Amino acid sequence: MADQFDLTIIGSGPGGYVCAIRAAQLGMKVAVVEKWATLGGTCLNIGCIPSKALLHASELFEEAGHGFKALGIDIPAPQLNLKQMQNHRSETVASNVGGVDYLFKKNKITVFRGIGSIPSAGKVLVTPQTGAQTEIATKNIVIATGSVSANLPGIEIDEKQVVTSTGALTLEKVPNRLVVIGAGVIGLELGSVWMRLGAQVTVVEYLDRILPGMDSEVARQFQRMLQKQGMEFKLSSKVAGVDKQEDGSLKVRVEPAKGGEAEVLDADVALVAIGRKPFTEGLGLDLAGVALDERGRVRVDGHFKSSVDGIYAIGDVIAGPMLAHKAEDEGIAVAEILAGQAGHVNYSAIPAVVYTNPEVASVGKTEDELKAEGVNYKIGKFPFTANGRAKAMLATQGFVKILADVDTDRVLGAHIVGKNAGEMIHELVTLMEFSGASEDLARTTHAHPTLSEAIREAALSLGDGAIHI
Ligand code: FAD
Ligand code: NAI
Repeated sequence: MADQFDLTIIGSGPGGYVCAIRAAQLGMKVAVVEKWATLGGTCLNIGCIPSKALLHASELFEEAGHGFKALGIDIPAPQLNLKQMQNHRSETVASNVGGVDYLFKKNKITVFRGIGSIPSAGKVLVTPQTGAQTEIATKNIVIATGSVSANLPGIEIDEKQVVTSTGALTLEKVPNRLVVIGAGVIGLELGSVWMRLGAQVTVVEYLDRILPGMDSEVARQFQRMLQKQGMEFKLSSKVAGVDKQEDGSLKVRVEPAKGGEAEVLDADVALVAIGRKPFTEGLGLDLAGVALDERGRVRVDGHFKSSVDGIYAIGDVIAGPMLAHKAEDEGIAVAEILAGQAGHVNYSAIPAVVYTNPEVASVGKTEDELKAEGVNYKIGKFPFTANGRAKAMLATQGFVKILADVDTDRVLGAHIVGKNAGEMIHELVTLMEFSGASEDLARTTHAHPTLSEAIREAALSLGDGAIHI
């Protein structure tokens, strides 16, 4: 029997590792069980971080090829060194996961390598790849085991040609033709990477729109921007099968979502990006008596407690958006709750960003949601074509859209399509966190010339009018 811990966390993704650090800072003796060789979970190893390394590099490659000329920079056509771009990706991952190692040592967090399971409250069993099992005695347990890619029935993933996001991050050659199944965040981000590097990309989406859950006006306009870049869309369509050919290529059978005649798309690589599902395999939750909801997520109360006392859950494995920052904030909140403090997550002000070019960023309610809820709302909008800095940067695509309550002027949601939207959204997140009104924003001085002035102008348009339009 190993030492007694105050808290044992299963999974070292953004939920688990942040929870561990905060709990240690609050004086708890903390253990983390991780089955992978490196810490950091999906986000650091095969998600947020490697995808952003490739998105950044491929965006610069694309700009050097097409954007520099108009700025007066004449260079020969850039040559792709995919091996070096992939080295950049893996070095970025190594540096980030190494950072978590350092933070764990600094905070005296004990790491157990192996698959964690819960025979009962107060106990965690660690099964390493080789060697003997260890039993940990612990006051509390946090399940932070995250999520895995959802699969389409009948389609076999080999992570070389028929890939999930994991395989799509490590392709060794730019595919001539990439078929992406699912026009969600992963499909559009990784589709953009390979399109910028030279692939012809077709996205097949079941619904009649891209990015479900995002404001539909934003999604519509963003789809046009992606189409202008060369991305093709087959909406209201489903993939019936992916067949490997003798010459090594793929034939992707696509049918109308409502049924009908199939068409065949030729492809070199197919990316399945139809969502992710919570991961609880191997935890033995049925033995411990931990209840799951209808979608296989650990059911928790408002304090992240499962159906069993002493067992909590956070991150992708519970309900809510599958986002790293949501998992992190739940990790902090549950650590604070276990320390007797009032940990809390404000789910109405969690930003979401699609890191394409332009970026799409959103917080709070969409116009579709406000309509459905019968809220009396007003819309403030401002296009980047009327923003001086955007013109200087040749980044005039997109707009800012702010939704506020007609009676109280309180900001209920905000949506930005444009360069750096993912950085800019945070002033709206902060405003919403403080229950701010659009007039608060309209009266706040913004430095000139900045892209953020478009946010203020959108707020001004909700009052006496924007100045520059
Ligand atoms: P995870 O990060 O999934 O970590 C779970 C950990 O638990 C893993 O390390 C796993 O090995 C371990 N584990 C599971 N079961 C056991 C067990 N029984 N014993 C021991 N260890 C176990 N989100 C964003 O906010 N921004 C982004 O830009 C972004 N980009 C993404 C890009 C891609 C390609 C993908 C796939 C996801 C992306 N996400 C992004 C989503 C983000 O990665 C997740 O929301 C986040 O990682 C969830 O954190 P988590 O701690 O809940 O779980
Ligand atoms: P998603 O839920 O964003 O999108 C999946 C898409 O696939 C949807 O548009 C859906 O309608 C479609 N779809 C479902 N079944 C289909 C079928 N059979 N045929 C065709 N289309 C189908 O899921 P995605 O993109 O896989 O990402 C998973 C999660 O990872 C997301 O929830 C997201 O939150 C997170 N993520 C976040 C990122 C970010 O914050 N920038 C980046 C990447 C992932």
